[in-house]
Amino acid sequence: MIGSILLCCLCVCFYLLLLVRRWRYERLTSKIPTIPGDLPFIRHAHLLIGDSENLQKFIEDNSNKANKLGGIIKVWIGRRQHFLVTDPDVALTLMNACLNKAYFYEFASSWIGQGIFTAKADTWKAHRKLLNPTFSQHVLVGYLQVFNSRARGLVISLAAEAGRGEFDSFPYLAGYTLETICNTVMGLPEDTSSSIIDQQFVSAADTMLNLLINRVQRVWYHWEWVYGWSGMKREEDRAAKVLKTASYDVLQKRKASKFNSPKDEIKNVGSRQQSFLDLLLEYNSSGLLSDQQVLEEVNTMIVAGYDTVATALHFCLILLGSYPAVQEEVYEE
Ligand code: HEM
Repeated sequence: MIGSILLCCLCVCFYLLLLVRRWRYERLTSKIPTIPGDLPFIRHAHLLIGDSENLQKFIEDNSNKANKLGGIIKVWIGRRQHFLVTDPDVALTLMNACLNKAYFYEFASSWIGQGIFTAKADTWKAHRKLLNPTFSQHVLVGYLQVFNSRARGLVISLAAEAGRGEFDSFPYLAGYTLETICNTVMGLPEDTSSSIIDQQFVSAADTMLNLLINRVQRVWYHWEWVYGWSGMKREEDRAAKVLKTASYDVLQKRKASKFNSPKDEIKNVGSRQQSFLDLLLEYNSSGLLSDQQVLEEVNTMIVAGYDTVATALHFCLILLGSYPAVQEEVYEE
């Protein structure tokens, strides 16, 4: 009897503690405007449900609201607050102060583990410092020959579609982007990259990115134990295996070539500097990064650089096609 009463008291205290914590947290952000559509318990979560167009519209509409209301607006997903920021100064302050990512970045961990995109602040700081030499204009310029050669290849494949009416250019751009990442980030020679980036890899990458967005929108899948039982999780595991096996193979090949020919082979195709993977392998040899961490950082670069660049190019082509006069000017240039 006394045991049950004590347990009840403990539960009540715990609940009160949660309430106080939440009240203090809400008080801190009480001056930030909240988006409309707040419901009990789920709060704004219902606004996310739908297809990717719905998500795009949600972000667009609320970003416009944020713009009008001082550059920051609050969204509640269940008991968690999120902030949509459109003011660059506010963004700068937040990005310097909040180095830990939101919990849903973890959704990508089956592919990219604790690479710098998803890492906790401590790992992020250490790894970002190690990787900083690769985030420079100098490195980009060194890859110009690869970009040009790949772009020529893209033009040749697109030419096959010329004069045949409407077509979807995204698969071409996706393939081009992935291969360029292989040549630059992983330092693979152009002839070998296509054997690694096959159709299976491209569709696994697509599946993975779509599942990530779907999971963010289906808030009941934010609970790991619910998601773990879903068909989406099984699909994710299959895709992650394809992607991780491919980069693991590349890692082993690069390690072997580095071992066999440390001076010549390791230099990146047609460029003056090391590839991203070569730099990671140096850290690996000196014990700063484990094999697993090297893989996670390589996979992070693929995730971060693939869909972003392919989508930007896709929009670029759509806009050029929609404005023939501008397209003509670009052609003349
Ligand atoms: C049009 C192209 C691109 C766009 C629009 C873009 C956009 C972004 C954005 C918004 C972030 C911050 C994400 C967040 O923290 O939530 C980010 C981070 C990142 N991007 Fe990109 N990106 C592009 C291309 C690339 C490419 C080509 C690479 C590498 C090959 C890359 C590598 C990264 C990495 C590693 C991070 C994480 C950086 C960190 O947390 O320290 N991105 N990108």
